[in-house]
Amino acid sequence: MLSITRQILPKTRGLAVLTSVRTKVTLPELPYDYAALEPVVCREIMELHHSKHHQAYVTNFNAAKEQLDEAVAKNDASKIISLQGALRFNGGGHINHSIFWKNLTPERTTPSDALQKAIIKDFKTLDNLKAELKVAAVGVQGSGWAWLGLNKKTGNLQVVQCPNQDPLAATTGLVPLFGIDVWEHAYYLQYKNLRPTYVDAIFDIVNWNDVSERFSSA
Ligand SMILES: [Fe+2]
Repeated sequence: MLSITRQILPKTRGLAVLTSVRTKVTLPELPYDYAALEPVVCREIMELHHSKHHQAYVTNFNAAKEQLDEAVAKNDASKIISLQGALRFNGGGHINHSIFWKNLTPERTTPSDALQKAIIKDFKTLDNLKAELKVAAVGVQGSGWAWLGLNKKTGNLQVVQCPNQDPLAATTGLVPLFGIDVWEHAYYLQYKNLRPTYVDAIFDIVNWNDVSERFSSA
């Protein structure tokens, strides 16, 4: 099938299309049902958030990536530069949400011993870490994320804000361990304007097993 595509397309465009076909990102399946995180996050939010919002980031990133491949093949510097915003926004949206779904679980979990040690070193207690994350999440102006990240240079855990869909690793160098999506699409249907209440509730469904694995892998 790929060889047929190559034959009917002009050489340069054909190669660009073939490259983008091979490298398309896809919407990951959720590791639980849409209703699994109730009552913290209702089914309707989860379904819209995953099947509409995340899907849109995937679709739009692939479209921008395809244009990028064509622009690179043509050595069109102006076009390449013009695509950076769409790539950052939609690629970031895909990266962030792919982590976010795994960061959550309906099951009760606790940080691993190694992560617990790091939390105590940098925040004294888990409650302090949650308090810092809450301040960061509630304080995001407009849309964005609060993250717990690992600074591999210092070995320290850090709490940071990211605006819009800026992905943590690509924009700060920190390894993302746990993110809180504070875009209104993540909570408004259920929590209306009460972002602090949503953030408090999110701590009840943190998948500390996943956060611990990200920490140990880093
Ligand atoms: Fe989101």
